[in-house]
Amino acid sequence: MLLLISLFFQAACYTYIPLEVHETKAQSSTSSSKNIQTISNSPTSMENFSKNWISEYSISVKIGTPPQFFKLLINTASSWTFISEQRCPGCKKPEHLFNRTASSSYRFQSKLNDFSFENFSTTSKLSSDLMSLDNSKDQVNQIFLLGFGDTEIILPESNVDGYLGLGLKNWSYRTFPENLKIYQSAESSAFSIFLSKDESKMASNIIFGGYDLKKYAVEDSFADVEIAENDDWKIKVSLIMFGHVKICENQLALIHTGIDTILGPEKQIEELYKYLLYTYYCWEAIDSIRCPIMPNNKEPYPILYVYIESQEYSIDPSTYLREIVDDQMGNVLLVLIKKSQNLFWSLGHPFLKNYYIVFDIEEKSIGLAKSLNKGKIENEETQETPIDNDSPTANGELSSVSNEERLIYVSIIFLLLIIVLILSIGLIWCCLKRSEMIYIDQEIED
Ligand SMILES: *[C@@H]1O[C@H](CO)[C@@H](O)[C@H](O)[C@H]1NC(C)=O
Ligand SMILES: *[C@@H]1O[C@H](CO)[C@@H](O)[C@H](O)[C@H]1NC(C)=O
Ligand SMILES: *[C@@H]1O[C@H](CO)[C@@H](O)[C@H](O)[C@H]1NC(C)=O
Ligand SMILES: *[C@@H]1O[C@H](CO)[C@@H](O)[C@H](O)[C@H]1NC(C)=O
Repeated sequence: MLLLISLFFQAACYTYIPLEVHETKAQSSTSSSKNIQTISNSPTSMENFSKNWISEYSISVKIGTPPQFFKLLINTASSWTFISEQRCPGCKKPEHLFNRTASSSYRFQSKLNDFSFENFSTTSKLSSDLMSLDNSKDQVNQIFLLGFGDTEIILPESNVDGYLGLGLKNWSYRTFPENLKIYQSAESSAFSIFLSKDESKMASNIIFGGYDLKKYAVEDSFADVEIAENDDWKIKVSLIMFGHVKICENQLALIHTGIDTILGPEKQIEELYKYLLYTYYCWEAIDSIRCPIMPNNKEPYPILYVYIESQEYSIDPSTYLREIVDDQMGNVLLVLIKKSQNLFWSLGHPFLKNYYIVFDIEEKSIGLAKSLNKGKIENEETQETPIDNDSPTANGELSSVSNEERLIYVSIIFLLLIIVLILSIGLIWCCLKRSEMIYIDQEIED
């Protein structure tokens, strides 16, 4: 009995971690508008551009004995957890470096493992130390990479101290979610991520050990998707549409929690840009596209559709467009869909703001469910801006919802009618009986 109870409690031991959101907004001194009409290869303007616009989701952890504190970016693109021991020239927070001589539990494993994140890469020491979540006492012995900054800079404009490796891998070192299962007897090493559209209403979070569809998703929209390869969170995408324009077929897409953009192969993104340039009077900026806040033709911006296992997933314009201030143009929209050198797509925050995602390490599958947030915000938006008429989902969903409601109303009215009918038949029958009896009574009296 006790065993059963303890099993129950262990199974229910999920770790809910609110994510910290870091948004680096444009500085008023941004001179990016100089480069608006042409794509410039000037490295300075690129630096200024990316410096001004990043958003990151991170959690706080403690590493070492006594503990040292770090903010780690949640990163499903790599299974390595990474922190640095040496200050890189552009890093913002010198105090958030790991001091390995100050930790009695630190173990050096081996030298020279490469760590990379998007365009940046560095050489580091394979290490291990005790690690725990900021608000928890449960420690795990975590293998991680310790950068010593002798090569390239890791995201110098970043607000975080390192990366939490949530990727899938085919080697034997355990990632943090797997360690949580081993050391804390969590039911599973699955974890799930909810990104909020409005932090004041519902905070973004990660749940280690499971998921909560009831709270964060539209439950019946949940679908399990097999991953495409054995060693990362890539899934097969059969079709990508931008509004009614077909962009590509049969692609791989990585679910990437570490980037605030949607990335795609150059040629395919160019197709998508063309549509924006000619239909919406957008213009080319340094490494993306900017658009007017009200599209000139008054058509709302198109929805980006991604088809996965014949299911349609939609990325709303409100999640792939971000309002920024441009020196010359005033408020404009930055398109968070960008080109990458990779041959696959990377679905970052704009996708995650629409879909609640369960990463199941043991099953090697990804669970996708429509984020609760998505529905709510969409409804609010529909009152202000009409939904794109070309969009099959928007129309489909809207009419299916109203159809369902109509069906319920009709059946209630039908039911009421039947009840009234039965009652009145009963009443009439009763009255008839009574008058008959009175008649018979009268007959007898006569
Ligand atoms: C980039 O920013 C620096 C200061 O942060 C400024 O001096 C420089 O002119 C900017 N370069 C461009 C091309 O905007
Ligand atoms: C690292 O910790 C050791 C031992 O506590 C200390 O002597 C040293 O000054 C620290 N290094 C830095 C850079 O803080
Ligand atoms: C990454 O590098 C490629 C060229 O190697 C460049 O085109 C791209 O803009 C870079 N991306 C970022 C985010 O710096
Ligand atoms: C891991 O995956 C890579 C590429 O997918 C492959 O080359 C390598 O052999 C795999 N390693 C193991 C241990 O399976």
